[in-house]
Amino acid sequence: MSSQAQQRQILVTSALPYANGSIHLGHMLEYIQTDIWVRFQKLRGHQAIYVCADDAHGSAIMLRAEKEGITPEQLIANVKAEHTADFADFLVNFDNYHSTHSDENKYFSELIYGRLKEAGHIATRSVTQYFDPDKGMFLADRFIKGTCPKCGAEDQYGDNCEKCGATYEPTELKDPRSAISGATPVLKDSKHFFFKLPDFQAMLQEWTRSGALQEAVANKIAEWLDSGLQEWDISRDAPYFGFEIPGEPGKYFYVWLDAPIGYMASFKNLCARTPELDFDAFWGKDSTAELYHFIGKDIVNFHTLFWPAMLHGAGFRRPTAVNVHGYLTVNGQKMSKSRGTFIKARTYLDHLNPEYLRYYYAAKLGRGVEDLDLNLDDFVQKVNSDLVGKVVNIASRCAGFIHKLAGGRLPSEEFVKEHLKNFPNDSGWDVFYDERAQRVIEKEIEGAYERRDFGQAMRAIMQQADFANGFIAAVAPWALAKEGRNEEAIAASALGINWFRRIIVWLKPVLPKLAEQAEQFLNVQPLNWYDYRTFLQTHQLNQFTPLLTRIEPARIEAMVEASKEDLAANEAAAAPAGNGELVKAPLAAEINFDAFAAVDLRIALIEKAEFVEGADKLLRLSLDIGDAKRNVFSGIKSAYPDPGKLEGRLVLYVANLAPRKMKFGVSEGMVLAAGPGGEEIFLLSPDSGAKPGQRVM
Ligand code: MSP
Ligand code: ZN
Repeated sequence: MSSQAQQRQILVTSALPYANGSIHLGHMLEYIQTDIWVRFQKLRGHQAIYVCADDAHGSAIMLRAEKEGITPEQLIANVKAEHTADFADFLVNFDNYHSTHSDENKYFSELIYGRLKEAGHIATRSVTQYFDPDKGMFLADRFIKGTCPKCGAEDQYGDNCEKCGATYEPTELKDPRSAISGATPVLKDSKHFFFKLPDFQAMLQEWTRSGALQEAVANKIAEWLDSGLQEWDISRDAPYFGFEIPGEPGKYFYVWLDAPIGYMASFKNLCARTPELDFDAFWGKDSTAELYHFIGKDIVNFHTLFWPAMLHGAGFRRPTAVNVHGYLTVNGQKMSKSRGTFIKARTYLDHLNPEYLRYYYAAKLGRGVEDLDLNLDDFVQKVNSDLVGKVVNIASRCAGFIHKLAGGRLPSEEFVKEHLKNFPNDSGWDVFYDERAQRVIEKEIEGAYERRDFGQAMRAIMQQADFANGFIAAVAPWALAKEGRNEEAIAASALGINWFRRIIVWLKPVLPKLAEQAEQFLNVQPLNWYDYRTFLQTHQLNQFTPLLTRIEPARIEAMVEASKEDLAANEAAAAPAGNGELVKAPLAAEINFDAFAAVDLRIALIEKAEFVEGADKLLRLSLDIGDAKRNVFSGIKSAYPDPGKLEGRLVLYVANLAPRKMKFGVSEGMVLAAGPGGEEIFLLSPDSGAKPGQRVM
């Protein structure tokens, strides 16, 4: 802790990811951004605490668990394990990662609701909604499908038409159907609970203009406030996966009510095992601690209207600020599964070093809410040129001379200064010592980090790296060594190493692993922010080993292909998942016989089964279907590691499925299998005697 700054108490959160899907590079923009900011504060000696959790409630999670034939508790446990591994491998360093399906969250949800109710901020009234009579549940808009009332397009969702863009009420849809059971929904009344948001109009007007929000966000909210606030429906009827409302059997808190309370719950859970942390000091009405939420632009209303109002109404402090970021695009477009740019965190990690992405995001992040583009060519170019070409290069050019000429021992600063004086001024060594310039740089870097303008911080740091490299090129220690001017070569290299050390300190919030490797090479204790002010002297270095390698463009191609393959494998596995599901899940929507008969299902003979080069999950099957030969890519490799054994086997084959173009060729139709996936995929075969080409009925 430096004497310059008073220690701040800072609690920081990222939005809680839904527990029904994998983390992708869009999510990572948020978690990396928050992690950098928290690491920066910790490095400066502040008490910064970073908490998060999985957002585990809601009907989507309930239905997905049902589909997988497991309980919601099992589903959220599996997903939590996956999420935490992804975050850890991206070096996102939470102080606590909890779940909204927890005792603490139940406690605070009930407490906050109870206090709001007591203060008269809860209303109840009857709401008429579509109800699925087969499933026995009310249907959220996205679980209703039907014909668009405006343009007549079939198979549109309950609240908007993808064809003509019209928005409407689900009750306006023609021929409405439940997307879950296929049943025709009926209208039904039910009592709902509402949070009276309009009670907080004046408070929100004041809070949203208190500096808590970026200007663009505050302006957007001003529009909402001006057009008047609505009461917010905070209840859902059973069946629902969530917390039952106290005293109201069959009524549950809507997932978005308890989700932000999950921030508190995660912190409370941390307090329980950290005696020196005081919950009230952070959340009490008169807390002087700072509280920041990092979120994406799609969930602004929940965090800047409902959440501060709930906190205030229940006697808790409000956030110091809500920091909103834009969406990630890849190569200038929305992430796309077919283009292979919908990249899961794990797929990235299978191919590339997490610090490359951390640096790239940092270099492109500003204070604004604009979308951020991950351009894959620019990514390769920038990481290679900045991190490898500039930063690591400083150390790799200087370390050798310290080892060769001085036994790996850095000389005293006095020695260094003495010899530097022999170099001409325009060699740039004086930039390292120019105090005025130095103060400006410090302010620029430190201030930019504090403001979350990481792009500016990275530019200022890279400029320092340019100065350091310029100096090394100008004095050329290798030339000095050749001329026998060893002391000067040592002095120049020692300055270079110190410049490198300074840059590493500044980059440490972004590149913690690189910093750790550098500390190992420098043979020092973990660096803290203020170490850039000191000079490493009369000190033994360790051997230099390459700290970071260049990105090979082939790695990017492989990652993009793997992302396409994830999709192909998911589609290929669609049949097994569908079949396995019949055991426990509801039957799929009813179809008539003609629809079934339209499927050209046949017996096929596997003539050849082989691995596909570059594909982790696929086998190529050459099929004889009686009157023709077909080529199919099937995502069954995990269950059939020895494909030769499949040759000569009869299987069930869908012959009239539209061909699919894949990286490896065209896949024509698909073979049927059962099972959950992985090693448990079971190809279906007819009894003996069946012949290739026979229709299946
Ligand atoms: N569960 C809610 C948040 C509850 S917070 C009390 C949720 N979950 S999410 O998984 O959909 O998103 C988590 C965070 O990731 C959100 O802040 C969201 O904006 C962010 N992102 C999700 N996709 C994103 C991109 N493609 N790009 C950038 N951020 C994105 O919302
Ligand atoms: Zn329409």
